[in-house]
Amino acid sequence: MKIIIINGPNLNLLGKREPEVYGSETFEDYFSKLQFKFKDVELEYFQSNIEGELISKIQETGFSYDGIVLNAAAYTHTSVGIGDAVKAVETPVIEVHISNTHQREEFRHLSYISPAASGVILGFGLKSYDLAIESFLF
Ligand code: DQA
Repeated sequence: MKIIIINGPNLNLLGKREPEVYGSETFEDYFSKLQFKFKDVELEYFQSNIEGELISKIQETGFSYDGIVLNAAAYTHTSVGIGDAVKAVETPVIEVHISNTHQREEFRHLSYISPAASGVILGFGLKSYDLAIESFLF
């Protein structure tokens, strides 16, 4: 089972960035815990602040991996290109968000990813990623 977590812009700052919204743990620390928890899963992690790099990574992994866990961050609410990439690939994509975007500003209520995603998990803090990985294991 090969799963990639793809994180979008500013998620490299987790731990430092708005800790009241996103928590105080870095993604690298959390990722080590995930690798420990899901020992039988080949887990990979990719982060970029650049829209085209996220699209390229979805294309690159989207025909051979078993699952993609995608937090497109702010691009969720703006990117037709990332939404189209999710539609184009064969690998199921689970959209995740750390925060409950529906409790936040109106512009965060729209997602270009959701119509193409196999599922959406949001609002559980970093645990949203755990839950997304688990959904591939059923
Ligand atoms: C986010 C929510 C987005 O609205 C925001 O732009 C992010 C993070 C989340 O994980 O809660 O950067 O995707």
